Amino acid sequence: MSTTATLTIDGQAYEFPLIKGTENERAIDIKTLRSSTNGIITIDPGYKNTGSCESAITFLDGENGILRYRGYTIEELAEKADFLEVAYLLIFGELPNEETLKKFHNDIKKESVVDEEIKKIIHAFPKSAHPMGVISSLTSTLTAFNPSSVDVSSDEAIYNSIVRILGKFPVLVAWTMRKRQGLPLDYGDNSLGYVENILKMMFKRPDEEYVMNKKVVDALDKLLILHADHEQNCSTSTVRMVGSSHAGLFVSLSAGISALWGPLHGGANQAVIEMLEGIRADGGDTKKYMAKAKDKNDPFRLMGFGHRVYKNFDPRAKIIKKSADEVLGDLGVVDPVLDVAKGLEKEALEDPYFVDRKLYPNVDFYSGIIYRALGIPTEMFTVMFALGRLPGWIAQWREMRLRKEPIGRPRQVYIGANKRDFVPIEER
Ligand code: CMC
Repeated sequence: MSTTATLTIDGQAYEFPLIKGTENERAIDIKTLRSSTNGIITIDPGYKNTGSCESAITFLDGENGILRYRGYTIEELAEKADFLEVAYLLIFGELPNEETLKKFHNDIKKESVVDEEIKKIIHAFPKSAHPMGVISSLTSTLTAFNPSSVDVSSDEAIYNSIVRILGKFPVLVAWTMRKRQGLPLDYGDNSLGYVENILKMMFKRPDEEYVMNKKVVDALDKLLILHADHEQNCSTSTVRMVGSSHAGLFVSLSAGISALWGPLHGGANQAVIEMLEGIRADGGDTKKYMAKAKDKNDPFRLMGFGHRVYKNFDPRAKIIKKSADEVLGDLGVVDPVLDVAKGLEKEALEDPYFVDRKLYPNVDFYSGIIYRALGIPTEMFTVMFALGRLPGWIAQWREMRLRKEPIGRPRQVYIGANKRDFVPIEER
């Protein structure tokens, strides 16, 4: 197998090393391309063929539907691990033992109080504000209240920023939801597990005890694990890019949250439920919507279908579909949109348009149905995705800093006007 790639330009050959990852993925290392070829660069909109980094966190094989965090399969982690263990694994590279996990959780708990002044900021948002906008702003705001989090020049400083955000972010998520519902911005109970406490913070009413339901805890835990990392996707690349300027962790995460919001990315989970409800309200005619999705003159896309990397199946979607049936059964919830979703999936999987383009249900197709069964409002779905993705973003940001990656700064091929003389306004 060759170890170099040869590029010939204007009759001259240039050699570049081929590098190989631990799963035998191969890449042409073009670091010296521009300098050796006197200014030639590559162009790849959407980065469909471009690796932005070498990473040891998540392995994804889209052709074979494989997803592993630090070498462990997503199937095994979803079944056997809990979210905090997975967070530790992603961030620090190894599964924690009981003692390490306890210390990690205790350090997070110590950071789980949010400055009271932040309540004023939350109250200043209109109730109708989209929670993703609110949570992105609040995450950035945390920097103002914790200026030391920007100083990440030592391992200790990085660790402190990490436990701080893992402690405070769930509080902000819960308060963002509670503000919309007119509920007091209360804390949960730090004697509970990390995910149990999130549920209590979100759902505890002032007039009654919050009763923990293990099935709900397990369902949310699994959803968060499935969302915890997905290598160099749009939001993660954003986090790494912002962090590469040595901006602090919280503002890098805030930028990642904004990137996640879009309906082509994390925002798809909200868009899926809205689409399914729309189809149901329109009489449940899935064929009509299939036709719309295939019509190139119609902007409608089948939300929750397709993926940049998975071209066979999304392993997360498989787990989530099974989990949706189990959770709804366990909680005794009957959701008619589940039938619409299953009908749509069946038709799409048999339709040449979707088959030829290798379009399969992705993680977002069924996740909203579970969130809804757990009592989470539709506008909060993407916030829940962010809550799950938080450890992945943190892990990627930390890796980028520890590897001392250079500032992210793509080049371009300029296609604008050539040099021309300025025309004074009265002569234009
Ligand atoms: N419905 C109808 N047609 C589609 C869809 C869809 N959901 N997705 C892709 N296509 C078509 C697309 O029109 C194109 O057709 P053609 O070759 O005839 O021009 C072909 O399939 C390839 O699509 P693409 O847009 O070039 O592929 P991409 O890799 O740039 O986009 C995607 C990937 C996820 C943005 C896209 O599949 C999509 O918009 N899906 C719907 C939104 C969605 O569910 N997003 C969640 C992604 S998973 C969660 C996460 O973000 O991590």
